[in-house]
Amino acid sequence: MKSRNTIEEYHEYRDKIGNRTELYRIVAKRYGVASALYPGSHIDIAPSLVIPKVIYVDNFKGAINFFKNMEMIKKYIAENKEYEKPSDIVFMGQDYSEELDVEPVDLIISQYAGFVGQETKKYLNTGGILLCNDSHGDATLSRFDDDFEFLGVIGKNNRIIDTKLDDYFVLPRSKNVDLVKVKEKMKEPKYKLIAENYLFRKIK
Ligand SMILES: C[S@@+](CC[C@H](N)C(=O)[O-])C[C@H]1O[C@@H](n2cnc3c(N)ncnc32)[C@H](O)[C@@H]1O
Repeated sequence: MKSRNTIEEYHEYRDKIGNRTELYRIVAKRYGVASALYPGSHIDIAPSLVIPKVIYVDNFKGAINFFKNMEMIKKYIAENKEYEKPSDIVFMGQDYSEELDVEPVDLIISQYAGFVGQETKKYLNTGGILLCNDSHGDATLSRFDDDFEFLGVIGKNNRIIDTKLDDYFVLPRSKNVDLVKVKEKMKEPKYKLIAENYLFRKIK
């Protein structure tokens, strides 16, 4: 049987998770993002289509094997990217909670990969943006972290909403959010109002 090539593998993965290029594009445009760190990226290389420098980090064997074909990935990105500059793509096949040899970036991407914001915020420029979902509670931890300012949410239509933010991260009957439990369970609390993605700015 002919083995799948790297780009076919990426396209299959993209079809499975949904194409996130528009999501990354609107965030990169709104906040003038030139560099990003994507811990727990697996093989979601869509950020490189819209952001010139992206560092991907994942310790899963499948991701490590995928990024071994870096020349093919770079060629694909060069042919499809939306910016003028040459692209700079780096992959680190390691645990993102261990020390990463990277310069501070403008954006950190956290998608279904644990407490990425908490573990890697030290690599985010002050003023930089954290884009995260709350599938494992990463957005919740960021919301109650003084290092971050809650900027907005992004729904299914990929529009940034920055109004009525006090309506998010609110539990029924105004119960307090139990952060210890969130860390233990790695699950988002059942809030009254939720969004697909959340945006935070690092303020310290
Ligand atoms: C559910 S997948 C999500 C992948 C991608 N972010 C997406 O949304 O399509 C989670 C990925 O995070 C990676 N991951 C989880 N914890 C990690 C860690 N501590 N260090 C490096 N990679 C990690 C896993 O190997 C896996 O590839």
